[in-house]
Amino acid sequence: MKTFLRKRLLPLIFATLSYNLLGCGSSNSSPPETDNTVRLSESYYSDLYAWNEQGGLAQTQLGRGLNLGNYLEAPVEGEWTGGRVLVEEDLQRIADAGFKTVRIPVRWSAHSELAAPYTIDSTFMARVKEVVGWANNTQLKVILNVHHYTEMMDDPENRQTAHILRLQGIWQQISEQFPLSEYPRYNLIFELLNEPNGSIDYDDWNNIIARLLTLIWDDMEAQQNNGSEQRIVMIGTANWGHPDGLTKLVLPNSVDASNTIITVHYYEPFHFTHQGAEWVDGAADWIGTPWLGTASDQAPLIALFDRVTSWNAQPNRGFELFMGEFGVYSRNSAPAQQKAWTAFIAREAEKRNISWAYWEYASGFGAYDADTGQWRPQLIEALIPIQ
Ligand code: BGC
Repeated sequence: MKTFLRKRLLPLIFATLSYNLLGCGSSNSSPPETDNTVRLSESYYSDLYAWNEQGGLAQTQLGRGLNLGNYLEAPVEGEWTGGRVLVEEDLQRIADAGFKTVRIPVRWSAHSELAAPYTIDSTFMARVKEVVGWANNTQLKVILNVHHYTEMMDDPENRQTAHILRLQGIWQQISEQFPLSEYPRYNLIFELLNEPNGSIDYDDWNNIIARLLTLIWDDMEAQQNNGSEQRIVMIGTANWGHPDGLTKLVLPNSVDASNTIITVHYYEPFHFTHQGAEWVDGAADWIGTPWLGTASDQAPLIALFDRVTSWNAQPNRGFELFMGEFGVYSRNSAPAQQKAWTAFIAREAEKRNISWAYWEYASGFGAYDADTGQWRPQLIEALIPIQ
């Protein structure tokens, strides 16, 4: 079980505001809903935007994906998954279900030295390569990231310069170990840092992006930018990857739609998706928060999607947008509501040609139940519609 607590203050403020302005607090002519029957149109459970045939690869580079969450991002693999570690069959199962991409969150900072050259433990590096190899062997594209660099975000002394040097050292080693010659650009994408937060504000994050891109594309050009190919990178937003952070993102001139995918995380309304989440302050009080798919439930979520696509429609953008995490914590949520929200978010993304990865495969939000050896019907049907 995770021991850290997160404080997603801005998303919460935003969620509360939108909820009050557009949601249940608004003056609405329809009578108050008194039961918890899901009202989402059944069409969301069908392949509305024709992604089934190629898993979204006809419309986007990454299509439909799944996060291998809670495995290599735990302090020790197995610690957050009841001792279970990833095996090759997991990747085959994911590919067989129709997913095209896996995002592999990795807690490199738990396996690399604190002082330069920040050597990453060779056994751990070999393990990450093994999992990436299994994925690529089953034709799954891989997004490899730096996840949970909490020492940097939560450093009480805010020694940012030192942490940035360490982060650069980590990316230098990843760049050496995963060269284009062995891991072609469409098979492996580097995501610079998961959910910058805490002491990393918007400006800090913009500075870190510039430094990491110089490292990967210029300093490591022999491995990552060899004249005919350039590694595709994925860049998210500060403040926990919230979509509204896009307006604060300043991208270096080296970035364009051919070498960069922009990612956001979608957990709105946060009180619904994270009800009872033990790692979020105050979440016990949100248990029972409904999401029924009514017009007022949908409106703020559509507005948020629209802000994302408007940002991307500005000059010199037109990036592939990737919703790198979205999901509902299963423990306390009603399965019919979890299904409705998941199908709604997935289809609304597909409608806008936004590729996505559900959070996550087989843990607390799990689409797959490792104990029974079955996909959870409410999730797999929402993610990959049968009709
Ligand atoms: C974190 C996970 C968490 C998830 C949902 C991810 O970014 O890494 O630990 O479960 O968000 O809150």
